[in-house]
Amino acid sequence: MKKIVLTGAAGKLGEELRGMLAGMADELLSTDIEPLGSEALENETYVQADLAEMDQIKPLMEGADMVVHFGAIVDERPFEEMLGPNFVGSYNVWQSAKLHGVKRVIYASSIHIAGMYKKTNPIPVDLPHRPDTWYGLAKCFTEDLGRMYWDKEGIESVHIRIYSCTSKPGNARALGSWLSFDDLRQLVQKSITTPVVGFSVLYGISNNDRAPVDNSGALHIGYKPTSNAEDFAEEVFANEPPADPQDGAQMCHGGPFATIELGVSPMGQMVIPGKDD
Ligand SMILES: NC(=O)c1ccc[n+]([C@@H]2O[C@H](COP(=O)([O-])OP(=O)(O)OC[C@H]3O[C@@H](n4cnc5c(N)ncnc54)[C@H](O)[C@@H]3O)[C@@H](O)[C@H]2O)c1
Repeated sequence: MKKIVLTGAAGKLGEELRGMLAGMADELLSTDIEPLGSEALENETYVQADLAEMDQIKPLMEGADMVVHFGAIVDERPFEEMLGPNFVGSYNVWQSAKLHGVKRVIYASSIHIAGMYKKTNPIPVDLPHRPDTWYGLAKCFTEDLGRMYWDKEGIESVHIRIYSCTSKPGNARALGSWLSFDDLRQLVQKSITTPVVGFSVLYGISNNDRAPVDNSGALHIGYKPTSNAEDFAEEVFANEPPADPQDGAQMCHGGPFATIELGVSPMGQMVIPGKDD
């Protein structure tokens, strides 16, 4: 492969992917609105760009085979703040991919496309969207955008609905929802190397005993997760305060995103391990 474009390259997950992606193509073009957290690799070029600006995004796609689109505001904010990076940004990525003949987009979708469903029902990939926030709605928009560009323009895409990707599971919810960094890399690698993906949706989740989703959508790319959050269960329960069974955040796939007011960040309520790793 000649060239891969990575958006969100300065982000937590982008940093986990850069080395692997650089090894998969002659050139890795890494882009973000923020500077990279570490030196560019030998065959990596960094370009600072705002996803919301088509004239900054379009030139990056020239000569690219595939785009790994991970850039976004990763939190709940008022709609007006999400619109540029998370909605228009997705349009800019797909439309400029089309203009430059890019074959495939790998997209970091999220469980928040279905955050309002109860966790007692394992959710398949083809359930109607039920977003919990503007953040989740932008992911729904982008999944539909990807489907439309496949149906109308023949651009393939893989939408990885990441649940919680951290260095280790940090709370009881994550014993079901965790995606390890190794399994993230495997998902992205197989999304790139599988010869035909068409329009694919799958869950970004490890091989957790308590996984609350049906991830059969990931079988056709040969995803075989190697991590299991259960290995951390004893440690997690030892530190977990008693849960309130009436708390909607405990019961819904979206966790605190399901109960927070629209436009308000729930991040303060969340324990995110590895934030400072
Ligand atoms: N980490 C998780 O558990 C998780 C769960 C579900 C989905 N995701 C998705 O995975 C992707 C990466 O998440 P992350 O955890 O690395 O988050 P992150 O916030 O660390 O990374 C996102 C990156 O996007 C960049 N960005 C924001 N606005 C931009 C703009 N206007 N133009 C260009 N770049 C911009 C940020 O600077 C940041 O570097 C996101 O799309 C996120 O929605 C992550």
